[in-house]
Amino acid sequence: MCGIVGYVGGQPALDVVISGLKRLEYRGYDSAGVTVLADGQLAAAKKSGKLANLEKELAARPLPSGTTGIGHTRWATHGAPTDANAHPHLDNSGRVGVVHNGIIENFAALRAELAERGHALASETDTEVVAHLLAEEFSSCGDLAESMRRVCRRLEGAFTLVAVHADEPDVVVGARRNSPLVVGIGAGESFLASDVAAFIAHTREAVELGQDQVVELRREHVTVTDFDGVPADVRAYHVDWDASAAEKGGYDYFMLKEIAEQPKAVADTLLGRIDAGGSLTLDEVRMPASVLREADKVVIVACGTAFHAGMIAKYAIEHWTRMPCEVELASEFRYRDPILDPRTLVIAISQSGETMDTLMALRHAREQGAKVLAICNTNGSTIPRESDAVLYTHAGPEVAVASTKAFLTQLVACYLVALYLGQVRGTKWGDEIGSVIRELSAIATQVDDVLGTMEPVRELARSVAAAGKNTVLFLGRHVGYPVALEGALKLKELAYMHAEGFAAGELKHGPIALIEDDLPVVVVVPSPRGRSVLHDKIVSNIQEIRARGARTIVIAERGDAAVAPYADHLIEIPPTPTLLQPLVATVPLQVFACELATARGNEVDQPRNLAKSVTVE
Ligand code: F6R
Repeated sequence: MCGIVGYVGGQPALDVVISGLKRLEYRGYDSAGVTVLADGQLAAAKKSGKLANLEKELAARPLPSGTTGIGHTRWATHGAPTDANAHPHLDNSGRVGVVHNGIIENFAALRAELAERGHALASETDTEVVAHLLAEEFSSCGDLAESMRRVCRRLEGAFTLVAVHADEPDVVVGARRNSPLVVGIGAGESFLASDVAAFIAHTREAVELGQDQVVELRREHVTVTDFDGVPADVRAYHVDWDASAAEKGGYDYFMLKEIAEQPKAVADTLLGRIDAGGSLTLDEVRMPASVLREADKVVIVACGTAFHAGMIAKYAIEHWTRMPCEVELASEFRYRDPILDPRTLVIAISQSGETMDTLMALRHAREQGAKVLAICNTNGSTIPRESDAVLYTHAGPEVAVASTKAFLTQLVACYLVALYLGQVRGTKWGDEIGSVIRELSAIATQVDDVLGTMEPVRELARSVAAAGKNTVLFLGRHVGYPVALEGALKLKELAYMHAEGFAAGELKHGPIALIEDDLPVVVVVPSPRGRSVLHDKIVSNIQEIRARGARTIVIAERGDAAVAPYADHLIEIPPTPTLLQPLVATVPLQVFACELATARGNEVDQPRNLAKSVTVE
């Protein structure tokens, strides 16, 4: 939520900052702004709306050139997305510039205090108070990093702050509490950003900033301390993907590219996790086997799409390990006083590794003594760092706001964890595990197969858009139920349509009243070769809605003759074992939502009101 870039070096700062912001626009696009230091002054430009608006503004009124600068792309929290509320915020003298990601919870008190001392605040944001406080501190100590430390000690809430001062022309200072910030180390230049994507074109050498740390960035070196000025240990790492992985690669949208990358993402997530003998080796999960053996229940916490992955994981974990497994929305978890103890294994699933709700849930779990295993796509992010163990998904950078390849790889990781638990606890024989792993290994090809047959799905999406439909329902049973929820979520966030997912059996308890003539209803049908009761029941559900006029869009296994007569539109997927079906059944729903959004003229990669990495609660 909100993208931040800071630069000090030998290049024109504006170019570096703007190109970095382009890579971070997925984090928020309500407004954008930049400040550069030139000739001992700060020069700033900011504009509501997307980065393109700021670029137009800069073309019309160019800023003077400088080699130190900061920039911001905003997802609004305090204050509407106007020019005035756009970052950077400056103090009254115009000598301090600040950008911010997060929420400063005590900003009202600080604002009142500043007003009493005669400061005039121009925006409705919480951020602006920081510019004014920094200016006050700087006037007494003359050092921006020290001023930042002093200010941070007074702030409550979650924040990444990056600031410049006109009196320290080759310095950028950053601070971090509960929101992401990474440092990039180049040759004679240094970078700060919410995500390495912002500086990957310049350097792949990065340094993680820890909780409650302040960094002073200069061309040749960076200095990291805690908020009290005590030098901090930092972890440097090499980013193992390059700039091309974050480019669209010929696709119109990142989402299309990321959907197409799913076979590789799935295969990569299995890489190195199976030994020559075919059994599972999750050595990187540095959690003693005794912890996994002694655990008496699993609790999964996650949000949005990752929560749907967790719902599917529950079926696999309970079936393969016979351990009770609860799945909970991370945003609800800690507020209901959950029962946790050292024998609870908490699994936190997050693509970004920065989702505040999930982070708070895992912190709560650890405070109660539970052990936390993170499933995450972003190396070095906060959630894995604060967990006891981590299993990384290898989806590569996911830029489109709507999650696609991350979801499939989260599923693969969940299946691996479930099997691993079964292996360690002895509830699954080696040959059973080997057989599921072989089935999982075949999935990448099956996803590829699905992707090759998507033209009718795209046509269908266009026809739904052309018919002016505003509601689509999604039904599923068993693991098909979370798939239905995921299909509905994709449609809501991308096509801005009323889309709801239901457990098919629940329909008769109320939602069936929604069915009317020609209403599109997508039904995810389980394999007829699996538990036939599931399949037969859903075929009956399809007949029930069809009898009431629904237009049925049926996702079913190739060759499922029993369901074909009741499908107005049949989308065939390859045969898979029941538990693994979400890996293939979700793909047509992603394509459907993407095409429908495009047909309705929506921004696919940057849906309205959303941001990729949700770093506020
Ligand atoms: C939906 C979507 C969101 C995220 C959710 C959690 O397409 O992307 O629902 O899944 O915000 O994000 P992470 O996985 O980064 O914790």
